[in-house]
Amino acid sequence: MNTPCLIRGMGHAVPDSVLTNADFERMVDTNDEWIVSRTGIKERHVALHGETCVDLSTIAAKRALEDAGMAADQLTHVLVATFSADTPIPSAACMLSHRLGLSGRVSMDLSAACSGFLYALETARALIVLHPEAKILVVGCDIVSSRTDYTDRSTCVLFGDGAGACVVTADEPGVRGGRVLDVLLASDGAMGDLLTIKGGGSGAPYKMGETVRRNFFVEMNGREVYKYAVRAMSSICEEMLARHNVAHEAVDLFIPHQANMRIIEAVGKRMGMPEERVFANLQHYGNTSAASVPIALSEARIQGRIKDGGLVLLGTFGGGFTWGSALVRF
Ligand code: ACO
Repeated sequence: MNTPCLIRGMGHAVPDSVLTNADFERMVDTNDEWIVSRTGIKERHVALHGETCVDLSTIAAKRALEDAGMAADQLTHVLVATFSADTPIPSAACMLSHRLGLSGRVSMDLSAACSGFLYALETARALIVLHPEAKILVVGCDIVSSRTDYTDRSTCVLFGDGAGACVVTADEPGVRGGRVLDVLLASDGAMGDLLTIKGGGSGAPYKMGETVRRNFFVEMNGREVYKYAVRAMSSICEEMLARHNVAHEAVDLFIPHQANMRIIEAVGKRMGMPEERVFANLQHYGNTSAASVPIALSEARIQGRIKDGGLVLLGTFGGGFTWGSALVRF
């Protein structure tokens, strides 16, 4: 298999404000013990001061560019995976391009919920085949709090806000970075109704002066989502390893979507991955949707969990349903 694409720099950003489990005890009928035992989450960063998708994406992008040793004006494409852009029009990618001082670039948003980053990474890989000179900013960002009902205890404790970014170019021998060996993606709309934000879309438009309804926020059948997430994420990760004839033992770090510690543990167990090789940071961030995997990747590298030569497996699952995996050699 060819390796046309190289992750050259990474960065992430989260809002300063934190909501702890103790804060939620004051907001809804819940408690720290329930949240930690069912989800593993202790705190999450939430945009309480009005930080937007483009604000966080700009910070993460600048960090990724600095990490790559590149200037913004070298970028040819800007891709943002998000369901929570500042506005439906203009796109977050157009606004981000402008914030970075760019014009005339290809800029577009992609929507695949929590799997958005891997969908954008695969798009970047394809663009690089067409345009080998491309230097592509790939961002996963969500302000999930903008669509979270903070009176619904079954969803509000799960989510946080954040952005993760990377700069992707064609492979250049001798240049440090993560060589994307492969990406696998899938979706199944038949299960779409198990995890939704319907209100405000063209299928459930609001009229002038109408009050926002419950369906404006994340609605989820947690139990069913849990079952599909475990099955889909583990099987697409297994498929990736089988496709490349890689044994589980050869994977140095598995970075799954950070939705729920029980999902992460169940997927790790199914795949025979020991705990110390499964990365988790959701204790501090909750589920940040499209930002989850790139924040985890960026943080794992900063923490020294990814060594030169290390093989990293990424796995994701999100609304739609969408899911995917990627294999990256650093
Ligand atoms: N505090 C206290 N009790 C709660 C809370 C809460 N925050 N939330 C729900 N409960 C109660 C319910 O009301 C229910 O009470 P009842 O039995 O009296 O009706 C009880 O706890 C059990 O509720 P369940 O929903 O069955 O609890 P479950 O054990 O399934 O855990 C959870 C819920 C954590 C949401 C789990 O189903 C889950 O993790 N699902 C996957 C969700 C997920 O990760 N989604 C994101 C993946 S996709 C993406 O990232 C977009």
